[in-house]
Amino acid sequence: MYCGCFCFPKQRPFISTATLTEFELETEREREMTSSTATHAYGEPSYWDQRYSEDPGPFDWYQKYKTLAPLFDVYIRRSHHLLVVGCGNSTLGEELVSDGYLDVVNIDISSVVVEAMQKKHEDKPELKYIKMDVRDMSAFESSSFDAVIDKGTLDSLMCGQNAHHNTSKMLEEVGRILKDNGAYILVFVTSGFSG
Ligand SMILES: C[S@@+](CC[C@H](N)C(=O)[O-])C[C@H]1O[C@@H](n2cnc3c(N)ncnc32)[C@H](O)[C@@H]1O
Repeated sequence: MYCGCFCFPKQRPFISTATLTEFELETEREREMTSSTATHAYGEPSYWDQRYSEDPGPFDWYQKYKTLAPLFDVYIRRSHHLLVVGCGNSTLGEELVSDGYLDVVNIDISSVVVEAMQKKHEDKPELKYIKMDVRDMSAFESSSFDAVIDKGTLDSLMCGQNAHHNTSKMLEEVGRILKDNGAYILVFVTSGFSG
């Protein structure tokens, strides 16, 4: 099983950098998400609301901040305007801020997790949590973010119904809100990657 960390600089979309790490999937849900029989539920907001009600976390899919920090150092600066899409109850946002990043916006489609994270981090002005669908980020202006960080969210849309339509909408929106020299940092899992 591989965790791929790809960075797609917006102005050079065909040049990507990959850091691949072989690792063991730790939990039943990670194994399920990446299996060929992955449940459609991962693409449904109601699934995530229920899961976050039952299991408030924190929980980080695939990799934790410590492993990813060296990659972030290559592509993002402490002063950059960052967007974490499908943040869940991951500690990524708070660890970015603890490490000196000054402006981290997090979005998720689940109101349950967004309300919990807003409450948990209400004392941190550098960290914002907003309920938003990654397929429609019209509340954000075009060319407004230096980087978008996606850990497991494209994967989750790929599991759902209408995956092609939903992932296309998501990627269109990610491209729209990124600045010209912005970067899309995608952390995903595949068992079929041959790179
Ligand atoms: C596999 S989890 C990853 C959570 C977190 N990024 C992590 O690394 O631990 C996928 C997350 O994407 C969110 N999500 C699913 N569909 C979404 C959508 N259309 N817009 C925004 N978030 C979405 C889910 O609520 C869930 O928190």
